Amino acid sequence: MYKQEIDAAKQHFASILEAQLGRIERMKQDEGFIDYQNLDKIIIGIVGGDGIGPYIANQAHRILAELLADKIKAGKVELRTIEGLTIENRIARMQAIPDDVLAELRQCHVVLKGPTTTPDQSTGMPNIESANVSMRREFDLFANIRPVRVAELNIDWMFFRENTEGEYALGSLGLNVTPDLAVDFKVTTTQGSRRIIRAAFEYAKLHGRKRVTIVTKANVVKTTDGKFLSIAKEIAKEYPDITCDDWYIDIMTAKLIDPSRRSEFEVMVMPNLYGDILTDEAAQIQGGVGTAGSANIGTQYAMFEAIHGSAPRMVAEGRAVYADPSSLIKASVMLLEHIGVNLEAERLQMALDICSQFECRVKLTGRSDGATNEAYTDYILETVALPDLRERYQQFLSRLQTK
Ligand code: IPM
Ligand code: MG
Repeated sequence: MYKQEIDAAKQHFASILEAQLGRIERMKQDEGFIDYQNLDKIIIGIVGGDGIGPYIANQAHRILAELLADKIKAGKVELRTIEGLTIENRIARMQAIPDDVLAELRQCHVVLKGPTTTPDQSTGMPNIESANVSMRREFDLFANIRPVRVAELNIDWMFFRENTEGEYALGSLGLNVTPDLAVDFKVTTTQGSRRIIRAAFEYAKLHGRKRVTIVTKANVVKTTDGKFLSIAKEIAKEYPDITCDDWYIDIMTAKLIDPSRRSEFEVMVMPNLYGDILTDEAAQIQGGVGTAGSANIGTQYAMFEAIHGSAPRMVAEGRAVYADPSSLIKASVMLLEHIGVNLEAERLQMALDICSQFECRVKLTGRSDGATNEAYTDYILETVALPDLRERYQQFLSRLQTK
């Protein structure tokens, strides 16, 4: 029965295995991280994306242009706008990232990217892969790093989401074996797990964080998550000063909203899909997905973005100018840190905290009763430029501690 279908499925599976084994060989050739300080000029690509993307990317662009003005003038940094990563163009070309756009992206060292619409067959769009997923794979951006901080709740979380494997690696290569049987694949490799888990521990060590939490569903998804968890436990032994604990994803989602427990978590590391879900939940606690930025880091390339989508509803309702640009501003902080522009990164982070968590003089609501993203960005730029920014920031912090 179904011999033909099963044979076709076997062939499909064989080609998947070959490609994944090839990927493992490439991962084994560890090239080491690029050193931005050695470059004559750092090229930062700016991609608007879809929906609210171009609106909020424009605001982040203004901020980067301001904070990097001296370096741009001296020819040390270039901000380069990259057009064409739009859903219309992607559908017209039937490519997740059109070839010419990919070639332009490759010429940059880092990219700041607005959200791109992910085609979903159920809405009548063609079955093209997500531009995000495609970009993460093309540039081997294995670490998706997502900070969530709520000073008032004493929350300071750093999520390390594996970014190239799990259910995402073959998300567009699942199989309808028969009209009744659909199969997707989940991929976990030794090399892929080691590099993200090590990145989490190294981050903890470098920043004096005392705890790394591993999140899986290894009790049920035994082979792939089981591998991830056992590798994590091995690596943890190399970091005796850091406590390592592990949680299953279901109870972890509950603990993030448990006030008696949540502020104890520090650095968390997990396979791709769990990281996708958990970081949206975490961002909601911080004030919504619109407030959360994200870094996608590989050894040779990095991409910085929001954690949310392109919000087509906001655009359809004429509210795009009220979309919160904080996610891409936070992503800009991470970008500046990544290329070693640390002082400006720190100032921007302080300004963002003052404007969004402490002083909150200009409020965004996502609607016309709140500020536009341009007005909010003006507020951030004004705050960044304050000569007494650091003192003000300290005042806010100490006021919080005496509350
Ligand atoms: C994210 C997004 C993406 C993901 C989508 C747009 C493909 O939700 O960056 O978290 O699922 O990774
Ligand atoms: Mg997501």
